[in-house]
Amino acid sequence: MTGVYIIYAFFAFCAYCIYLTLQRLVLSPIAHFPGPRLAALTQWYEFYFDVVKHGQFFKEIERLHSIYGPIVRINPYELHVRDPDWYSTLHAGAGRRRNKSRWFVSRAGGKSAFGTIDHDHHRIRRAALNPFFSKSSIVAIEPLIQERVDKLSEVLSKHATTGAVMEMHNAFTSLTLDIVSTYAFGESYGLLELPGFSPEWKEALKATVESSIMNRHLPWVADLLGFLPNALAARISEPVGFFLSVQAKIKSQVEDTLARDKADNKKSYKTIFQELRDSNLPPAEKTAQRLMDEGMILIGAGGDTTAHTLTVLWFNLLTNPEALARLTNELKEAIPDPQNPPSWTQLEQLPYLRAVITEAHRIAAVLTVRLVRTAPNEDLQFREWTIPAGTSVSMSTHFMHRDPAIFPNPLHFEPERWLGPNKANEKYVMPFSKGSRACIGINLASAELVLTIACLFRRFRFELYDTTEKDVEVTWDGFSAGFSSESNGVRIKVAEEM
Ligand code: HEM
Repeated sequence: MTGVYIIYAFFAFCAYCIYLTLQRLVLSPIAHFPGPRLAALTQWYEFYFDVVKHGQFFKEIERLHSIYGPIVRINPYELHVRDPDWYSTLHAGAGRRRNKSRWFVSRAGGKSAFGTIDHDHHRIRRAALNPFFSKSSIVAIEPLIQERVDKLSEVLSKHATTGAVMEMHNAFTSLTLDIVSTYAFGESYGLLELPGFSPEWKEALKATVESSIMNRHLPWVADLLGFLPNALAARISEPVGFFLSVQAKIKSQVEDTLARDKADNKKSYKTIFQELRDSNLPPAEKTAQRLMDEGMILIGAGGDTTAHTLTVLWFNLLTNPEALARLTNELKEAIPDPQNPPSWTQLEQLPYLRAVITEAHRIAAVLTVRLVRTAPNEDLQFREWTIPAGTSVSMSTHFMHRDPAIFPNPLHFEPERWLGPNKANEKYVMPFSKGSRACIGINLASAELVLTIACLFRRFRFELYDTTEKDVEVTWDGFSAGFSSESNGVRIKVAEEM
């Protein structure tokens, strides 16, 4: 009898496979789009490049574009488009509905604005966060940012006398996390106070962001880890343990804030939890779990990205003496007293500094991940192709930023491309993405970049220590650009304090 059931099960399985093949290759509304049949048939194609080959699908997408053209079907449900001029059609402003892809987001971000799939729901959550990140809010916390930059200067000043080596990604992650933790949670992590800063944080952030790929393909692994007692999960993976301890801390801060009322807002600026607690959000949007998810995203999104950009910028300036000299001269003139720098809004007007930052965004091309959207109630027109409403469509800025057709000699750091009458078109540099889901932290990131670069390059002369191009070569996609595991990072010595 058992044998008969096995035969039935076998035929049922074969029938299901035939149905799936027909559905995906012939009946699907995107069956006629170009791309490899294998990718159209199964998501194991993507799994192979992303999980087995460790974050290589982003390069495979590029290879597919070189064969199939500007639009490619990269899995059974998704099209990928390569055309910078079409970016703002897909990543449109708030007036056009754009959902995220549930499969792609998977467990990332939980109930935060970042993790919200539905357009209208996202608008509500985002509106409550917006005031916290407006330009005037960031101007108000400039002393906080400056204080942390000064702290890093103090450590560098000591290094100038001892000749000690500093790994810059670690230093900048500590800087950005100290800033975002103070601003968002009212309490600094104090990582710049630690001897050697916090390499654990750098690793934990990387592992957390990177886990989004695995979670997408094997979400049950994340669910399983979630069921384990914290102590056991921590023993399985050190970064997971670290992440859980951060989560527990944020949870207690949220609960503490929710237990108090408006009268408790003592500081000159509100914490993110006070801002959300006092907002017009409905009670269901003010639960401890949701606020905690929002807090965790700020750490993840605000910590690594800016630090990564600064690290790549440091390497490129220190390997380009002409650009470095031009920047230093501009800073000497604009900041006569290095102990007393002008404000962010004054410094951001400096033309060469602006060019250096734009070029750093371009060459760092921080986000290697593709960003997926669906337009639930409109067909999208890409050239001669009509994309049916509800189809997942993605675009990636990483290769756009490094496209030789737009930026000649793209891997060469050249701030001059952003100056003069024939300067390149800034609309093709979009590190923060565009539209209703674009980065909310643009002002905070910009203030951090301007103040850090201006103050540190005005005050110190750096030299690279045992660092080569290999250390900033993008080898894999871990949401943000991944460097080789063999790399010891971008390391510097302080040659002189000016
Ligand atoms: C150079 C630095 C940064 C870059 C390149 C960057 C890039 C991005 C990009 C491309 C997105 C869109 C992601 C998506 O569509 O899924 C995003 C979203 C986001 N970023 Fe940033 N970011 C940076 C700094 C920051 C900072 C400093 C913060 C704040 C602490 C921040 C907070 C966020 C948040 C909360 C979102 C989600 C917004 C939403 O879904 O409405 N980012 N970022």
